[in-house]
Amino acid sequence: MIRKKVIAGNWKMNKTAADGAALAKDICTEIGRETGVDIVLCPPFTALESVGRTLEGMAIKLGAQNMHPEKNGAFTGEVAAEMLRTLYVTHVILGHSERRAYFGETDALINQKVLAALANELRPILCVGETLAEREANQTLAVVQRQIEGALAGVKPEQAISVIVAYEPVWAIGTGKVATTAQAQEVHAFIRGLLGKLHGTAAAQKVRLLYGGSMKPANAAELLAQPDIDGGLVGGASLEARSFVELVRAAVAAR
Ligand code: 13P
Repeated sequence: MIRKKVIAGNWKMNKTAADGAALAKDICTEIGRETGVDIVLCPPFTALESVGRTLEGMAIKLGAQNMHPEKNGAFTGEVAAEMLRTLYVTHVILGHSERRAYFGETDALINQKVLAALANELRPILCVGETLAEREANQTLAVVQRQIEGALAGVKPEQAISVIVAYEPVWAIGTGKVATTAQAQEVHAFIRGLLGKLHGTAAAQKVRLLYGGSMKPANAAELLAQPDIDGGLVGGASLEARSFVELVRAAVAAR
């Protein structure tokens, strides 16, 4: 089974509307046409519209970094699925470790968001991963299992194939410490096995599993060559056209 590779750029809290559009334009110049790899740009909410306009007619998709599970209402500061849909957003990052750590997001809340995203035809990019303390306590697989089972509760097998899962060891995010390919592949294989138990092997074989955490052009080829690593969720290296384009090219070469 050949899974289409995915390179998603998580810009986090970086880029104004104008700077984001300029970056998207530079990326489009290089790799805006069909590459054989799914490419997703995830700017902050305030740059979704300008980046979306820049991506019009291009083979690059638009993603948000978060979403509220309710349809609308008194949730000051929050953004609903329909609001994203009207800006041509197709993907949404959910459960990022920064949301879990700094904004108290629980597996139960992330589960509500995943269900709401799927109900609104947005593809969740569900993030999971252990902290350094959890890894050192040999808790990695147990933590990842709890996060996946929690976030995907009530998701049907036919919906599960639209979910993209990103394994992002917290200790590798923004630290320059990348997981070894063996460490990453071990967890990815575990996740695919777990998805098989939850949704059946056929569905699990279709789900794309991304690695995230200090991914850059220098380490991408090796990570992307692993049998269960289907792409990357990239932070720092997605903020410049040159490094992001190189990552996409690495994914194209790894197909
Ligand atoms: P870095 O690539 O900057 O380590 O960030 C990874 C990440 O958190 C992507 O969501």
